[in-house]
Amino acid sequence: MQDTINQYIAEINAASPANADELETFRIKYLGTKGIIKDLFEQFKSVSAEEKRVLGKVLNEFKQTAEAKFNQLKETLDSGLKTQDSNQDLTLPGDGFALGSRHPLSLTRIEIVDIFKRLGFVVAEGPEIEDDWHNFSALNFPEEHPARDMQDTFFIKKNSGQDDIALRTHTSSVQVRMMENGKPPFRAIMPGRVYRNEAISARAHCFFHQVEGLYVDENVSFADLKQTLYHFVQELYGEGTKVRFRPSYFPFTEPSAEMDVSCTICGGSGCNMCKYSGWVEILGCGMVDPNVLENCGIDSKKYTGFAFGMGIERITNLKYVIRDLRLFSENDVRFLQQFKTEII
Ligand code: DAH
Repeated sequence: MQDTINQYIAEINAASPANADELETFRIKYLGTKGIIKDLFEQFKSVSAEEKRVLGKVLNEFKQTAEAKFNQLKETLDSGLKTQDSNQDLTLPGDGFALGSRHPLSLTRIEIVDIFKRLGFVVAEGPEIEDDWHNFSALNFPEEHPARDMQDTFFIKKNSGQDDIALRTHTSSVQVRMMENGKPPFRAIMPGRVYRNEAISARAHCFFHQVEGLYVDENVSFADLKQTLYHFVQELYGEGTKVRFRPSYFPFTEPSAEMDVSCTICGGSGCNMCKYSGWVEILGCGMVDPNVLENCGIDSKKYTGFAFGMGIERITNLKYVIRDLRLFSENDVRFLQQFKTEII
């Protein structure tokens, strides 16, 4: 029996199963319920007491050797499988992942802001929740002005008792905050979201975006306003784009104007974007009304200024020929993915 065991030990030491199946065969052969070791223990029962003393030890050692070998083989095989797994082919092409794109309104805002930054304007922001003073009164809106009506403005009910809180209806409120809190000269643009109580349709929305501009200093004239906005349009829509100013009315500017540009789609020959007029309106502007300067604590005898305000949606529509405002807030990736421009 001793010789047989020695032979088995040699066999076990030489074993090198190549895979899990061969390892299992090894286990069944030596350690299985009908395996060699079990069988040897059966035989062991019938040897003499004398032999038992020696053989018992040998047999136990054999069993331990077989088990240790099995564990070691299993470990080697398992780790072999693992290394095979992580041993990926690094020359294979990687999986592509979808890159997002900037929202078209952000692209336009960034472009507008960049043009004015190059002219020395700084960027300012104000709160979207405003009081009557900053949104209306300081801007010279008469008490009975229809824009204060519930139809245009979202008023916010507050428990505090202050009943003049509203979502700002335009970014002109930021002009007031800026002038109240600083000293001239001011040269700033103020982008932001505004709210109006409008039924949502292709042409109107209850929220949209504006960029406000303000330039206050000594001796600022309407000529400065015209040249600044003319330059802006050349940068935004390209050299040769024509502009025209039409007289208009805003409570916070005097005189006031609206500025048209030659239609960016047809170049002025007439199309349905410009309703066959050759011109499209892009902004309102004017000289800051002296009342507004005084309301903000600025000496209107010493300082003059101009202001302007434009809708980012409008400028974007003209740029990309988008005819439905609702697309901007629906977050349909098929729409948004079309604006894969260079990241600016
Ligand atoms: N706040 C005006 C609006 O929402 C736009 C505007 C017009 C702003 C003329 C101005 C301005 O600063 O001078 O329609």
